[in-house]
Amino acid sequence: MKKIKVGVVGLGHRGRHMANLAKRAFEFVDFVAACDIDPELWHEKQWLQDDSMKNKHPGTKFYNDYVKMLDENQFDFILVETGADVHADFCIKALNRDINVFSDIPSVANLTEAKLLWEAEQKSQGKLMTGANPNEWGFINAMVDLYQKGLLGEPYYMEAEYIHCSRPGSITHKELNKNSPWRKSLPPIRYCTHSLGPLLRILEEDLRYAICLGTGAHIDPDSERDDMMSALFQTESGVTIRLLRNGACRAFIGHHSYRVFGTKGYFERIDSRGTTPPVTRFNSTELYGAENLTVLPIDMMPQEYSDNPHAAGHGGADYALLDHMFQAFLRKEDFPISLKDGLRMTLPGIYAAESARRKGVKLTIHYPWETEFDADIREFDLS
Ligand SMILES: NC(=O)c1ccc[n+]([C@@H]2O[C@H](COP(=O)([O-])OP(=O)(O)OC[C@H]3O[C@@H](n4cnc5c(N)ncnc54)[C@H](O)[C@@H]3O)[C@@H](O)[C@H]2O)c1
Repeated sequence: MKKIKVGVVGLGHRGRHMANLAKRAFEFVDFVAACDIDPELWHEKQWLQDDSMKNKHPGTKFYNDYVKMLDENQFDFILVETGADVHADFCIKALNRDINVFSDIPSVANLTEAKLLWEAEQKSQGKLMTGANPNEWGFINAMVDLYQKGLLGEPYYMEAEYIHCSRPGSITHKELNKNSPWRKSLPPIRYCTHSLGPLLRILEEDLRYAICLGTGAHIDPDSERDDMMSALFQTESGVTIRLLRNGACRAFIGHHSYRVFGTKGYFERIDSRGTTPPVTRFNSTELYGAENLTVLPIDMMPQEYSDNPHAAGHGGADYALLDHMFQAFLRKEDFPISLKDGLRMTLPGIYAAESARRKGVKLTIHYPWETEFDADIREFDLS
């Protein structure tokens, strides 16, 4: 079988993990080249790794110049694993060479990037897969299945929270923040794709309006970021989503929770609270015996991968992402989480951050496939 030629840019902990997983778990992957501006990351055994990237991958070429890496090699895929606010330019450069892209989230950092990336993909023979791993979780697949079978009816109100605390001084905190300027400066609400992505799977409409407020920094007054940001989004028909995101906080609780209020049922996934494990529950007027809240025996692992020894990392979702992407590529099908999906879950966070900057003004969200988007670029990015 012809090998799929893969390169990675960004060898932080996520880039190393995804490149190692692609190489280890898919025998058809040829890990051609890797790039990071910090050569220490090629040579040193890093956090959670059994060896340095150079030693683990003797056949892989290492670069500190991305364009040189693209110029000197042939690729089917580039994994873009640079910081959360610097993805688009790397993706565009690969798409301009007709190379497929796996872009980690969020997809873009501003509206101009969204337009340029959208246009680059339209012109390219390559396509972009959005690395939205929560969309792959088992309990999210269950939620989508309940919706598609009509057991939830139509959602009219949904909630999500992503509360990610790490203890200052802990090894996790130290290692995650070492080379990550974005972890200290990105407005938390812009890291919204883990929360909105799964909910948008059961929403036919795009989000149209955003209102957001931030608390300011109380825990560390030197911080540039709000400790907590809370956004309300709404579609044109009135479906409303509330999203809570944190910068700093002292709540050491499970990270991801979701609630869906539908016309015929209710779904919730409440993450762990201390010794109480995560729970997935639903009720429905449409299923005999499920009128009362009923526990669903499903966790993060997508059940089709539960026996797969490679299905590690975020509850099997990282493997599922790569598997679905490579299978689509081999079958010449569209990627299951497209650039459009990525922008639908990323742009509301950019509008929400702007709403918070303007003290909670309600903003109308547009997308690069809409004519009004250019006026927003002029107002947001160029004023
Ligand atoms: N989906 C998930 O569950 C998940 C989890 C963690 C991180 N992420 C995302 O993955 C991405 C990477 O996260 P991370 O924690 O590894 O971040 P990180 O900031 O630790 O790593 C980014 C790396 O990119 C490198 N880089 C920056 N500019 C470069 C350039 N011009 N050329 C080459 N390399 C360059 C940096 O040196 C750094 O090593 C982020 O976008 C983040 O949002 C996703």
